Amino acid sequence: MMIKRILAPLAVVAATGLAGQALAAGEGGHVTDVDFSFEGPFGTYDSMQLQRGFQVFHQVCASCHGLKYLAFRSLGDSTGPAFPDDQVKAIAALYEVADTGPEALPGDTRPGLPSDKFPANTAAGAPDLSLMAKARAGFHGPYGLGINQFLKGTGGAEYIYSLLTGYTGEEHEAAGSILYGNEVFPGGKISMAQPLWGDDVEYTVHGGGDHEGEEGYHGADYTPPEATIEQEAKDVAAFLMWVAEPKLTERKEAGLRNLIWLVILSVLLYFTNKKVWASVKGDH
Ligand code: HEC
Repeated sequence: MMIKRILAPLAVVAATGLAGQALAAGEGGHVTDVDFSFEGPFGTYDSMQLQRGFQVFHQVCASCHGLKYLAFRSLGDSTGPAFPDDQVKAIAALYEVADTGPEALPGDTRPGLPSDKFPANTAAGAPDLSLMAKARAGFHGPYGLGINQFLKGTGGAEYIYSLLTGYTGEEHEAAGSILYGNEVFPGGKISMAQPLWGDDVEYTVHGGGDHEGEEGYHGADYTPPEATIEQEAKDVAAFLMWVAEPKLTERKEAGLRNLIWLVILSVLLYFTNKKVWASVKGDH
């Protein structure tokens, strides 16, 4: 009875909070649900998927989009793509970053080092993708209550997946520039031409080295999936989710730990309360 009285207002607060968030969404098109490995209370990133997603980003998206908040060395994170050190170095060197050394002239560049961040890139007005998966929420569940978010995350990765696979093939001319029909982008027309068509990359086996035996490492018998448009879109969406939320796994673990302590504390307080008032209430 008493517990009910405490919980009821809490439930109302939770429900209205979530409904408030739901109002912000919904002006775009339909976002498809995808089962990502990092969803749910125990979800973690799949290193191999993040490595494939990086490959798609590197070979397709990087020509227009930057990731200015991501340091190359993060690509070696064990809860992230877990690239071995030598590959992180090799990847960094593929990018030209601004040279800020004492003898550099303005505009000079040099090959990247693991401690550098990815270069900013806004070619053709393309936005930076570092935080995009968090900036765009994909869905809020039945009746806009946000129930899905508890179980499946906010849907930022799903939004990106749906956007990349949502091209209608129509082209519209507007003020001298071309807009491309897209079922998911709010307004239905986007200035980004369809970037993925399937077979845009040839998935290769990365990993290896120090990561043998770790979860997600499938060794020499690892067969990458076929690079269909859906697979590429899924992988790059997962990669961009990791870029925006690299500490997701750690946060979930900490959250669970706190929840367990909270439950233990609540039980102790309940019995303490009972004991303190026992003589007053007269039930022994
Ligand atoms: C030829 C350049 C180009 C390439 C290649 C490209 N994009 Fe874009 N992208 C753009 C432009 C331009 C916009 C801005 C579109 C707009 O606001 O109308 C954009 C916008 C976006 C957005 C934001 C959409 C929104 O809701 O505002 C996402 C997400 C995105 N791109 C992801 C990708 C991914 C992932 C790839 C690689 C698979 C990619 N892009 C490849 C040019 C590009």
